[in-house]
Amino acid sequence: MAVNETSGALPALTTPGLDSPMTIPITIGIAVVIAFLLLHTLTPSVDPREPPLVRPRIPFIGHIIGLMRHQAQFHMNLQRSTHKTIATLPMLTGKMYAVWDPQLVASGLRNKSLSVNPHILAATPKVAQVSAPTAALLRGPDAEHIVDRVLLHAVPASLRGAGIQRLNRTALDLLAAELTALAPSSTRPVPVPNTWLFIRRLLSTATTTAVYGPAHNPFSDPAVEAALWELEKNLLKLTLDLPAVFTRAGNRARQTLFDALTPYYKAHRDTDPAASEFIRNRAEELRAAGIPDEDLARVEVMLPFAALANTVPLLFWMVCFVFSRPELVRELRQEVEGLVVAGGKSDEEQGDKKTTKVVLTAGTVEERCPLLMACYKETQRVAVHQVSTRTVMRDVMLRDAEGREYLLKEGGVAQLVIGAGHGMEEYWGKDGGEFKPERFLAGKGEDGEASGGVRATRVAFQPFGGGLHLCPGRQFAFAEMMAVMVTLLLAFELEPLEGTEWKLPKFATRSMIDAVTKPARHGEGFGLTIRRRPGWEGVHWEFEL
Ligand code: HEM
Ligand SMILES: *[C@@H]1O[C@H](CO)[C@@H](O)[C@H](O)[C@H]1NC(C)=O
Ligand SMILES: *[C@@H]1O[C@H](CO)[C@@H](O)[C@H](O)[C@H]1NC(C)=O
Repeated sequence: MAVNETSGALPALTTPGLDSPMTIPITIGIAVVIAFLLLHTLTPSVDPREPPLVRPRIPFIGHIIGLMRHQAQFHMNLQRSTHKTIATLPMLTGKMYAVWDPQLVASGLRNKSLSVNPHILAATPKVAQVSAPTAALLRGPDAEHIVDRVLLHAVPASLRGAGIQRLNRTALDLLAAELTALAPSSTRPVPVPNTWLFIRRLLSTATTTAVYGPAHNPFSDPAVEAALWELEKNLLKLTLDLPAVFTRAGNRARQTLFDALTPYYKAHRDTDPAASEFIRNRAEELRAAGIPDEDLARVEVMLPFAALANTVPLLFWMVCFVFSRPELVRELRQEVEGLVVAGGKSDEEQGDKKTTKVVLTAGTVEERCPLLMACYKETQRVAVHQVSTRTVMRDVMLRDAEGREYLLKEGGVAQLVIGAGHGMEEYWGKDGGEFKPERFLAGKGEDGEASGGVRATRVAFQPFGGGLHLCPGRQFAFAEMMAVMVTLLLAFELEPLEGTEWKLPKFATRSMIDAVTKPARHGEGFGLTIRRRPGWEGVHWEFEL
């Protein structure tokens, strides 16, 4: 595809004035010589200790076009065709390091000399359009320190101990209420025209209410929530300084979000006891750094992405992969019955609601539901494409399992491609593209049909990243996903809206901005019907943590 795109540049060589029979070969000859010289003078110099050079098929711009078009998938494709563990990719007159091998990725994520800060500091003013003083602050000598305080101190502190306990509790109570009200009848199925939008709304409501507090949640308005996803889709464009015609949709979405968040921060709603520590700690840290409320609302426009952008698609795919396999659903139902500690299925119709209590403590789910855990991990393996972009602050040597060392030079940019390891044949076998939860079951999948096994699952599986920036929200994501999955399995039947066959949507472009792949075309055309299973009609849900 990329070849067709650039062939548009070729007619320029045969300019209308040059139409004598001789001039065309001469022109081509000159062009070849120029191209040859350019290639040799402009190819970035590579130290023999640096990763091997992988040249694009179209000189200078091939890799750039590939990255823009296919984003994270570009890396997976290039790894598959070159079979390299790491590479230096020439781009225009510069270069970028692509790290694909999971062990090299892991050591890159752990190394403090590879920093995410320059990327955050470069993107924030463009996306957030902050005032001049705040922009100066983000360019100034304290900028790195501010990012470190927020990411390495304020956020992790808010997502452990009492902070996560409250976030868990609030979000799960809200999800329980939503699921109690969902498709109450076993005889009247409820049509869900777009499964993606259904899952998105279900999680967004509970999550944003838990994060911002119930009284003033800016995302209780579905239009504001929709703007969040629209902004995300346009985020890359907004950081590229493109002319306004290309950024209209992104600008509109951004304005909707600024308008919703500004009154929240101006009124200091984040200090309300019902708001989460997640939002409060960050706001406190950013205010202390000298960022005024008006800019705070803008800088924090990205925050809800963290809590939703990955959990929503992951839950979507887990529902798809599991419920499209009736045999798997039967096995999982037996397992998750072990999580019901009160109430449950009843034989007689009951007028009033009874309470069904389900335990979702991570330890209990792990112990009683190995297959469910395997499905959770296999969904992550298939759907997480994460690319972690870092700037090399000081020369770094990355060492692979065989002891080979690669030099990453100060000032370079490295992309650590977690998603590449999730699909590598040497770890997962030829069927690595398929959903096979048995890979993650102890004693299974070591050799045989679904390869995987201890080495692969320990080495080539890093859905939440690693090192300094390991996802601090992973337990929260687990709690939310399990609440929905366990309830759907126990008490609901899900069937395709049209026909009897599950025709799952394709993957959308695998974005560089988030970790999990979304369905193509906003999941359009993939609907479901949902109804209660007989005996589960009158259930009032409660989740125990
Ligand atoms: C299953 C869903 C999720 C997945 C797969 C996921 C994945 C990731 C990954 C791979 C990173 C590392 C990024 C990097 O190395 O550059 C990350 C970072 C982060 N995640 Fe998650 N995440 C999920 C859910 C959540 C949730 C629910 C929250 C918040 C409540 C959250 C908050 C964050 C934050 C704040 C960071 C940045 C940490 C830092 O840079 O220090 N994530 N996530
Ligand atoms: C929140 O829920 C998750 C999943 O059940 C659990 O792993 C985590 O420990 C919980 N945190 C607290 C403090 O309850
Ligand atoms: C990071 O890289 C430097 C330079 O190669 C090395 O000295 C250091 O030990 C590495 N740190 C970690 C945590 O791997």
